[in-house]
Amino acid sequence: PPFKIKMVEKIALPPREKREENLRRAHFNVFQIPAEDVFIDLLTDSGTSAMSDVQWSGLLQGDESYAGAKSFYRFEKVVQSLTGHRHIIPTHQGRGAESIFFSSIIKNKEMVIPNNTHFDTTRANIEQLGAKAIDLPCPEASNLGTPYPFKGNMDLEALERTIRDVGRERIPLVMMTITNNASGGQPASLENMTAVKKILDTHGIPLFLDACRFAENCYFIQQREEGQRERPLRDIVLDVFNLADGTTMSAKKDALVNIGGFITLKESGPLLEPISRRLILQEGFLNYGGLAGRDLEAMALGLEEVVEEDYLAYRTGQVKLLGEILQERGISIIRPTGGHAIYVDAAHFLPHIPKERFPGQALVVALYRHFGIRGVELGSVMFPDAPRELVRLAIPRRVYTNDQVRFVGESLGELYQKAPTIGGVTITEEPPFLRHFTAKFKEIHESRDR
Ligand code: F0G
Repeated sequence: PPFKIKMVEKIALPPREKREENLRRAHFNVFQIPAEDVFIDLLTDSGTSAMSDVQWSGLLQGDESYAGAKSFYRFEKVVQSLTGHRHIIPTHQGRGAESIFFSSIIKNKEMVIPNNTHFDTTRANIEQLGAKAIDLPCPEASNLGTPYPFKGNMDLEALERTIRDVGRERIPLVMMTITNNASGGQPASLENMTAVKKILDTHGIPLFLDACRFAENCYFIQQREEGQRERPLRDIVLDVFNLADGTTMSAKKDALVNIGGFITLKESGPLLEPISRRLILQEGFLNYGGLAGRDLEAMALGLEEVVEEDYLAYRTGQVKLLGEILQERGISIIRPTGGHAIYVDAAHFLPHIPKERFPGQALVVALYRHFGIRGVELGSVMFPDAPRELVRLAIPRRVYTNDQVRFVGESLGELYQKAPTIGGVTITEEPPFLRHFTAKFKEIHESRDR
């Protein structure tokens, strides 16, 4: 790693009885388990990064003026230089940006927004305005095991077909999520994004990026795409943003901060005024958007650090390390490994548990029960018509050592050996939407080896 440790936070593996009690009390939903009782927490890479000494000292320089704060101008300059975009609008996090952005664009229920794959909050923000969110992932994305390097690409033929079928006037914009979180943290290539842009240009449709993990995506472009190897990462970042008319961003990922987000617009256009108006209504004045001045400082500094190539080599290398350990043990995962997480194929891990008994949730419960590790189900619990039963192990940035990552890999390996003893679960109570956060479960038969 291109850093050393200056401050530590104590963690401990609670005794087995405590973990059992936590599971029972949480109704086998790990969102309800106190983080203090989690040994290695891989629930999300969002807002969980460790900040650098430079970012922490930046907090002290936060200018807390309501308007025109120094911290805002510093943040604005950094984002402008990374993206080449002119207008930088801070928000409190990604979904704050999405809410303001889509409510400024979506005018009627006829509208359709295509994306390589919408993240769930993006989809929810579009659908709650009555419009339709459609996913157009490339065909390679549906095959877990093929090592295609850019499974985050958009299906170009499907895009052209959609524009033809739906009609240009119903599509206010097309979005690309980089990296593609919902489909394995997989990158989109510069070639694919350029081709998307070309198609959209012929129809006069703008392209926007959901850029939460832009640096990881651009690093994969540099490493995996022909002709990109020798190029400085920042040049690739500029090329990617140059294709887009604007961005929504959750800074909780690739800005290496615990809270924050923003919208960018490449040029002044018809969106600037409605977005600015809504920002003031919902988040705060144009210069702080629901954040403290110190948060803007930390974001500005984090955005400089995240595009350092040695950091990105370490970051993607750590995810790859976990992927390799799992594959050596015969565990099926989405390949190649993406930028922020490993996605385990729970249907392969627990072949004796049918879809109706939620193999992903069963694996999440077993991982906590046996090793105090917390992952998240991305299968039939989260998406009732999910095509795959996945468990995501998201790696927080700069938080865990490679020893801890090896512990996770070896723990899963051990669990795989006793997979036949793991039983399924059923849902006993669920809310009407986003059920994974609060649903209650019951074990069908408790693990036989207890
Ligand atoms: N877009 C993508 C691609 C995301 O992964 C997320 C959040 C958001 C938007 C929303 O950002 O959380 O700041 O409001 N993803 C987190 C995750 C929650 O665990 O994958 P937010």
